[in-house]
Amino acid sequence: MITEYIKGSDDCGIERSGEILRSGGLVAFPTETVYGLGANGLNADAVKSIYEAKGRPSDNPLILHITSLEQAEQIAELNENAIKLARRFWPGPMTVVLPKKSIVPERVTGGLSTVAVRMPSNDTARKLINAAGVPIAAPSANISGKPSPTTAKDVARDMDGKIPIIIDGGDCDIGIESTVIDLAGDVPMILRPGGITLDMVREVLPECVMEEGLCKPYKSDKAPKCPGMKYKHYAPEAQVIVFENGAEGKINEYIEKNKGKKLAVYCRNGGKYACENIKYWGEDAADMAKRLFADLREFDESGTEIILCEAPEMSQLGQSVRNRLYKSAGYNIVK
Ligand code: TXA
Ligand code: MG
Repeated sequence: MITEYIKGSDDCGIERSGEILRSGGLVAFPTETVYGLGANGLNADAVKSIYEAKGRPSDNPLILHITSLEQAEQIAELNENAIKLARRFWPGPMTVVLPKKSIVPERVTGGLSTVAVRMPSNDTARKLINAAGVPIAAPSANISGKPSPTTAKDVARDMDGKIPIIIDGGDCDIGIESTVIDLAGDVPMILRPGGITLDMVREVLPECVMEEGLCKPYKSDKAPKCPGMKYKHYAPEAQVIVFENGAEGKINEYIEKNKGKKLAVYCRNGGKYACENIKYWGEDAADMAKRLFADLREFDESGTEIILCEAPEMSQLGQSVRNRLYKSAGYNIVK
């Protein structure tokens, strides 16, 4: 298949992409978080082809993307908490998990009785959903296990030749995936941290808690609430080693001991290390969130074997970034 590339500003192209989605095809598109790989979320066969293109395990459910509360109501049982959060954070980088309605195919939810719903704020994403006229099921547009794509170039690397259209909307604003909040249980619970932090959610729902172990390796003795948590994630070819706040001094020791290897340092602006290959992720966790996935892919392109990475500050957003960073490092963390 030859993949066609169109710009987010190409309204005719978006209309055509909407038709492709309606008729069961796949379209990669930008959102404010990461690029999504979209299919008609009400068509089980279309959704199946997402799993095939990504090589994704079929028990890992997908998020349905919508543009209005009315559309959300067609697919999920909205409760009071959902309405409160929606008023505050939609459109935006928040996904809520709610009891599903029967119109949603089991393929989307991996057999669960709940469905994940998100209203993105990115203009191109919204135009595309409206052009399709159906909720769009979309995971991140990467091959399963690889870093999520935050540029059209990174989508192309994983999806070129596999899907009919990739919509280029430039770099994603946030750079890490949406905050996933379970609203189907007794207590609202963050299942995946993101740009919308626990404190922000608690301003609306003070009782909200974080799923324990979001920054710890997944233990296989109990079923995770968020099925995606048990799979390998965000892994570049290179080995990543994370140096926690206060342990940065050990980076130079590591460089000294591993002279023969292709090392790179990934650190905050101004970091000084005895290494020729230094890339800066910026000043704070928000900067790092925006660049992390694209930079991990660039390290791979330059043939780096080991990435020695400074962790961001210990803010709540810093914890969301850590959730991705630790996984990309296979929990290889120096304290
Ligand atoms: O920012 C985002 O959320 C991006 C963009 C494209 O919208 N999408 C994204 O999708 O990150 P994906 O498939 O890579 O991650 C969806 C996460 C997975 O960890 C999945 O297990 C969880 O949401 N999830 C989906 N449905 C669920 C459900 N019914 N219950 C619990 N977790 C669910
Ligand atoms: Mg993903």
